[in-house]
Amino acid sequence: MAAPVGEGSRASEPGAAPYGNFPNYSRFHPPEGRVGLLPAGLLRSLFPAATRPLLGLDVGCNSGELSVALYRHLLGLQQSTDSLAQPAAGKDLHLLCCDIDPELIERAQQCSPFPTSMSFAKLDIMDRGARERLLGSYLARFGRSSFDIVFCMSVTMWIHLNHGDRGLLEFLSLLASLCRYLLIEPQPWKCYRAAARRLRRLGRNDFDHFRSLEINGDMAERITQILSRDCAMELVCCFGSTSWDRSLLLFKLSGSGHEDRASSGQEQ
Ligand SMILES: C[S@@+](CC[C@H](N)C(=O)[O-])C[C@H]1O[C@@H](n2cnc3c(N)ncnc32)[C@H](O)[C@@H]1O
Repeated sequence: MAAPVGEGSRASEPGAAPYGNFPNYSRFHPPEGRVGLLPAGLLRSLFPAATRPLLGLDVGCNSGELSVALYRHLLGLQQSTDSLAQPAAGKDLHLLCCDIDPELIERAQQCSPFPTSMSFAKLDIMDRGARERLLGSYLARFGRSSFDIVFCMSVTMWIHLNHGDRGLLEFLSLLASLCRYLLIEPQPWKCYRAAARRLRRLGRNDFDHFRSLEINGDMAERITQILSRDCAMELVCCFGSTSWDRSLLLFKLSGSGHEDRASSGQEQ
C-alpha cells in the first residue's frame, strides 16, 4: 500500500511520489506542451450558446500550473494579463481543481492568479464521501448538479496503479457521470513500467496492482473503449500527442445523459 500523503514521505525520499504527486511536475512536463494542442476557441465551439457560467473540474491538479494555463488558454487570456482582465473568449468559467496531496494544494492556493474563479481543494477523488461533499457543495453554489467540462490530465495511471482495474473502471465511470465533456490525457503503458521501476529503485514496495492489471497495452485505446462502451461517452477528437507521446482526447456524453447536462440547451 502506498504511504499516506502528507506524512513527509517525499521529504525523506525525494522522488517517491506514489500518487504522481511530484512537487515540480510542471517543470518536466510543462503545461504549454498540452494547452498548445487545444484550439483557441474550444470553449466557444463546445458551448456556443452558454448563458450561464461554465463550470469545470480539474482532477489531479498537482500545484495548479496546468490548471492556470488551461484557464488562461480557454479564455484567451495572455500570460501577462492579470486577474482583473476580461476573458476575451466572452465566457465565464469557474474551475474547481482538486488533488490528493494537501501540500500541492496549499502551493496552488498561494500562487493562484485567479482566486475568484479558480478554487483549489484537497480531495482524494476515490473517496466517495469526501468527493460527494466537496463536489456537491461546489455545484450547489451554482445551482447545478454536474460540470460542463472535466479535465483529467496525466492522472489515470496513478488511479490504475493504486486502485487496480476495478478502480480505473470506477474512476472513468465517475468522470463520465460528472460532466458533459471530458478532456483526458492517459499515460501510455511504458509510463507504468517506468513508475514501477522508479518505486523499486527507491526500495519501496511495488504498486499493489501493477502485476495483475488486465487492462494494459495501448492505454489511450483501452480508455476510449471503456468510455464509449461502458460510460455512454463518445470520442469527439484527439487533439494530437505531446512530446511525451500522450494523447489529448476529448469525449462528450452521448445520447440521453443526466438532465442537467442534456437539457440545458447550451451545448452543441
Ligand atoms: C502526474 S500529476 C499530473 C498533474 C497535472 N494534472 C498535470 O497534468 O500537469 C498527477 C496528479 O494526480 C494526483 N492524484 C493521484 N491520485 C489522486 C486521487 N486519488 N485523487 C486526487 N488526485 C490524485 C497526484 O497527487 C498528482 O498531483
